[in-house]
Amino acid sequence: MAEGQESVLLTFYINGKKVTERDVDPETMLLSYLRKRMRLTGTKYGCGGGGCGACTVMLSRYQVHTRTVSHCAVNACLLPVCQLQGAAVTTVEGIGSTKTKLHPVQERIAKAHGSQCGFCTPGMVMSMYTLLRNNPQPSMEDITETLAGNLCRCTGYRPILDGYRTFCEVSGCCQADGAKCCLNANSPAENSPKCCQLKDKDTGLANGKEAADNLESGRLELFDKDDLLPLDPTQDLIFPPELIRMAESGEEVTQVFRGERVTWVSPVTLEEVVELKARHPEAPIVMGNTNIGLDMKFKGVLHPFIISPSRVSDLFEVTHKPQGVSIGAGCSMSVLRGVLEGLVRSLPPEQSETHRALLQQLANLAGPQIRNVATLGGNIVSAYPNSDLNPVLAAGNCTLTVVSKGERREILINEDFFTGFGKTLLKPQEIVLSVFIPVSQEGEFVRAFRQAPRKENALATVNAGMRVRFRLGSSVVEELGLFYGGVGPCTLAAPKTCQQIIGRPWAEETLSAAYPVLLEEIPLDSSAPGGRVAFRRALTLSFLFKFYLQMHQKLAEMGVLAENLPQDMRSALKGLPNHFLPSYQEFQEVLEGQPGQDPIGRPMMHRSALSQATGEAVYCDDMPHTQGELFLTLVTSTKSHAKIIDIDFSAALALPGVVDVITAGDIPGRKFRTLSGLTEELLAEKEVTCVGQMVCAVVADTKPHSKRGAAAVRITYEDLPDRVFTVEEAIKQKSFFGPQREIGRGDMTEGLKMADHIHEGEIRIGGQEHFYMETQSMLVVPVGEEREMNVYLSTQHPTYCQEAIAETLNIPSNRVTCHVKRVGGAFGGKVTKTSILASITAVAAWKTERPVRLVLERGEDMLITGGRHPVLAHYKVGYRNDGRITAADVNFYTNAGNTVDESVLVIEKILLHFDNAYNIPNFHGRSNACKTNLPSNTAFRGFGVPQCMLVTESIIDDVALKLGRTAEEIREINMYRGPSMTHYKMEFNPENMLRCWEECKKRSCLESRREDIAQFNQQNRWKKRGIAQVPIKYGVGFADGFLNQAAALVHIFLDGSVLVSHGGAEMGQGLHTKIQQVASRELRIPTSLIHISETNTHMVPNTCPSAASFGTDANGMAVKDACETLYTRLEPLRTRNPKGTWQSWIKDAFLEKISLSATGYYRGHDTHMDWERQEGQPYAYFTYGACCCEVELDCLTGDYRTVRTDIVFDIGRSINPSIDIGQIEGAFMQGVGLYTSEELTFSPSGVLYTRGPGQYKIPAICDVPLKFNIYLLPGTQNPHAIYSSKGIGEPALFLGSSVFLALKDAVAAARRDAGLSGPFQFHSPATADRTCLACASHLTQMVPISKPGTFQPWAIDSP
Ligand SMILES: Cc1cc2nc3c(=O)[nH]c(=O)nc-3n(C[C@H](O)[C@H](O)[C@H](O)COP(=O)(O)OP(=O)(O)OC[C@H]3O[C@@H](n4cnc5c(N)ncnc54)[C@H](O)[C@@H]3O)c2cc1C
Ligand code: FES
Ligand code: FES
Repeated sequence: MAEGQESVLLTFYINGKKVTERDVDPETMLLSYLRKRMRLTGTKYGCGGGGCGACTVMLSRYQVHTRTVSHCAVNACLLPVCQLQGAAVTTVEGIGSTKTKLHPVQERIAKAHGSQCGFCTPGMVMSMYTLLRNNPQPSMEDITETLAGNLCRCTGYRPILDGYRTFCEVSGCCQADGAKCCLNANSPAENSPKCCQLKDKDTGLANGKEAADNLESGRLELFDKDDLLPLDPTQDLIFPPELIRMAESGEEVTQVFRGERVTWVSPVTLEEVVELKARHPEAPIVMGNTNIGLDMKFKGVLHPFIISPSRVSDLFEVTHKPQGVSIGAGCSMSVLRGVLEGLVRSLPPEQSETHRALLQQLANLAGPQIRNVATLGGNIVSAYPNSDLNPVLAAGNCTLTVVSKGERREILINEDFFTGFGKTLLKPQEIVLSVFIPVSQEGEFVRAFRQAPRKENALATVNAGMRVRFRLGSSVVEELGLFYGGVGPCTLAAPKTCQQIIGRPWAEETLSAAYPVLLEEIPLDSSAPGGRVAFRRALTLSFLFKFYLQMHQKLAEMGVLAENLPQDMRSALKGLPNHFLPSYQEFQEVLEGQPGQDPIGRPMMHRSALSQATGEAVYCDDMPHTQGELFLTLVTSTKSHAKIIDIDFSAALALPGVVDVITAGDIPGRKFRTLSGLTEELLAEKEVTCVGQMVCAVVADTKPHSKRGAAAVRITYEDLPDRVFTVEEAIKQKSFFGPQREIGRGDMTEGLKMADHIHEGEIRIGGQEHFYMETQSMLVVPVGEEREMNVYLSTQHPTYCQEAIAETLNIPSNRVTCHVKRVGGAFGGKVTKTSILASITAVAAWKTERPVRLVLERGEDMLITGGRHPVLAHYKVGYRNDGRITAADVNFYTNAGNTVDESVLVIEKILLHFDNAYNIPNFHGRSNACKTNLPSNTAFRGFGVPQCMLVTESIIDDVALKLGRTAEEIREINMYRGPSMTHYKMEFNPENMLRCWEECKKRSCLESRREDIAQFNQQNRWKKRGIAQVPIKYGVGFADGFLNQAAALVHIFLDGSVLVSHGGAEMGQGLHTKIQQVASRELRIPTSLIHISETNTHMVPNTCPSAASFGTDANGMAVKDACETLYTRLEPLRTRNPKGTWQSWIKDAFLEKISLSATGYYRGHDTHMDWERQEGQPYAYFTYGACCCEVELDCLTGDYRTVRTDIVFDIGRSINPSIDIGQIEGAFMQGVGLYTSEELTFSPSGVLYTRGPGQYKIPAICDVPLKFNIYLLPGTQNPHAIYSSKGIGEPALFLGSSVFLALKDAVAAARRDAGLSGPFQFHSPATADRTCLACASHLTQMVPISKPGTFQPWAIDSP
């Protein structure tokens, strides 16, 4: 094509197939292109903002200058299709399939049980696949780094790591390398770093003792490592030769794409870019699109003209000079990292100070998928307040080369360059060409600091870059640069503090005098955006203190200072341990004599794991579009309490593609749902009571059109008074949903009289977002005849949705069929809220007579659907000197939000469980559901139990701190022993609970590790270790007996294949797999003959929710019943023809007119609870367990790492140990999130701030305990459930609290060093800010705290 020509053609490849597109819409991202246009639905939507990794694909490009192909993992949700010219995209479908050949990456995650709901699995697979394309023999560190940008809400990550560990050449135990295990030798094999007897230097734990024991004794493993496909590079798609030819031809022309609202120009020369920028100074330069993309998606910013110079080679040049390196502004973070690593290797150490500091920040900046596309120039120009690079670039005296038409200039990156939030000195027409990073000089040191809400894949809360130059041969400071991020609208400098230090010797007195100056210089207003003001200010001091200590040690090593840092101070210099050790899972062999074909009790892969790992598994939004289908977007309230004056949707209706607007007036039947006796409007009509309440909905031909339509709806409100947000406000205003519940045993007055001491305290447990990876999704299809509706949705309770839709449409339930193929995670959040969303969608389908799809975006889901109830508890406890608790009285207040939902049931469960493992003779509790103007909370795994049990454990902790004893001692003194009775008079035997407790103590070596920890804490002032062991007693089943029933339908077809239907929904918990095992045992046929297609309200009617850890108990029994019926019917045929086969008996049965279809039914336990009399039998039985966790805490920043976790669980005889262990690990990690990192924040006017993974931090791989052992208690029986098993879905979540309590233990140690003893207030979640401030270091004490009430805080303080 001749010079000056433009092209509207885009050429790229997907999975080896050429794609040519003309006039692509610049607003189309690769994710929606793959899913909607190419029908490649394996790549998933989890957040749309680069934060979850569900959309990971591999992007390959030919690099002309090196003649190599580069492969990198990227987030398809942020990658504009317009940028794909010349690229090859590989999706999960492109690497292997169940129909052709699996790729080992797919097979291993599945076989290692690393796929539960499977929604995150394709993303994990693609991240790992890309790593192997670049490095076929990765280390464990490579794997954990690669998966840092991928979130999973189900598995707890351990099985994923174990599956992928099989790609590493070296395994954990010395024996795995082929040698005899060193444990059999007399002394540690010092020359082998893998020796099992050596202690890991990072964690202080024995390297691989249990793993080695495992190998030695031939114990059972969850998957067979010898039965795995080898990695075969010939299986990989080759890079398309056509793209190589295209790249080498150099025939590139400017591309222009015009969409509905945006024009995209992709020039190929710098001159063109400069020219375009001169003509369109307002146009953004889109490179990685990781900033501009978020603005356009989430803030609704529209850029009608976009310049994308990602093919302009000048922006990618790297030039090395003796004075430093010039790096093209278009280089990605990954490329930058590679260049810097090269320089660190080649330069003398004194010259690479800035490079190393930058590398340190780059290691934690975002996740790999973002680092692979986000550019250096983009990061600088975006001028984020908490950019990780800018403070270091400023400290390192780096400069920018900036070009515009006819002008080129150099700009120093310093405090003057950053002029405000997202603003710099750059003129609108200027672009950054390159960044110059000078080498450091002798005597000059550069360091970087960073603290983030999660160790990986999280924007920093505060970061810093610091540079000091000492007078040669002395400790006198000649130059100093201190730059901070996260403490103001942009990167800030601290020149006055520097002046205070310059000219003085590097000594404690110098620094001590500087702290007040720093505090004054970086004041951070009490109302500052982002909140956590005291913590952020404390971090500015902590970083300076760490810098001081680091330089002190450096000067000592150089011989400039006479004395090394004292040993205990050096703890501030060390990082936290991060080396994963092999984990261990112990379970029992099946009983002797069990036939080999009988799968009960054996580990068996999730029945859909392979489909999930190949992207073939169909989730709701993966269903193909139907003819005439519409998309629905909800319009939600922006007011927390207001009258609706008017809804004007005329502007919306005028927009392209908008078909209709649905309001409450369109609902033909009931306009509300009734729960706990109270009603909840589907769509608000007259009044709104929270921000996020659904008011109306827009339906349009496409999702973008319906979104634009929704944005155009204008609602006029009149504010109403008396907004209530917090529990305290609700108590003051007596704003409750009745009834209050109360329970007790013994006599409180007497109990308190018997006590030697009385203590009162309070604790808060924050709420929790479900963060199921698949957001709420549904498709309602009117059949077009007799008012029938087919509804495909992601719910735990299809019958409830069926009933809700029927009532809403005023049609009988027999016209509504709900289908649930699978659910991409639910955790309690897909019952009531889904029914309401499905009802609204059904109204839209009813009114328009067209299929309507609703798939919530992550932010909408988080805003609308609520989560776990936050709890405030006040308690009074009486205890004796010997640790015996004589009385405890607790008042629980839950924040229910604006509607009752299941809150009354939650407060009941709180009161039924708050005794946990303890027999406190005089025990009393009251529980209230507070009505507030926040989005309504709902069921969440554990249903109030994780909250109430933490209250009880905190009471125990307080008693221990008061008495100066360990919490475990106080726990043991107060535990139930012998035949016991709960406070609601249910009899039980705690023997297995005590066995779990003792076994856990033994397995974790609790006692000896406590001693090690005490010694560690004595030797380390700024790192503290803590340990805690907690027990659990968890009631399984529904307290309302009718919910414990289940039904099933089993068909046998003439070829002998069996179709099983039951009432439970598969949401990752492996229910269908266990059911398949049950049917296999009962029918005596292999599982391969048994299929479960979906949960369908017409196959099995009137089902109960899949919840309360009761799914297998109930549905398993119903399926067993149906199978028994069928098996018995076949008995005469078997007797007549004992040598016949299953298939022959089935054929005979048909010929003899024996029905091959049977229903099964399970009545369930007749549980009940009488709240008047405060007694009952609300549970079928109890599941027991214990968990011991050890953590290491950085007291100066609040960062921590779980060093080791040991869990012992009594789950009876496990039906499937791999699934049960997966449930334990996943729930535990969800608990870790609840108690340590997941924090919902609301603005003072009730607007939820935390609406995506960017702000809300669920655990990632970096939060997995470095050693994570699970033991299933042997020799236990459970006569109350199928095959003597026990329910396990929920109980382990509470065990995450042992991390919280271990952190509290570590904090207590830090406080002792600060001269503080006794109980202290420590609320959940133990986020870094709470933990750091609780340590009460000399630095946190310096931060002035504004008096509450004297300022408007950025966020509501503890809703
Ligand atoms: C999930 C996620 C996590 C993240 N975590 C971190 C983190 O931990 N630490 C951190 O520091 N950052 C983090 N970021 C921010 C990320 O580093 C920046 O968004 C990125 O560096 C911006 O580069 P880009 O190429 O994507 O810019 P784009 O989004 O393409 O552009 C951003 C802005 O920069 C301008 N621009 C880009 N290049 C030039 C140029 N050469 N000349 C002039 N103007 C230019 C554009 O006009 C635009 O205004 C994260 C982002 C995401 C999405
Ligand atoms: S959907 Fe792309 S990162 Fe979450
Ligand atoms: S299996 Fe990872 S999110 Fe469900």
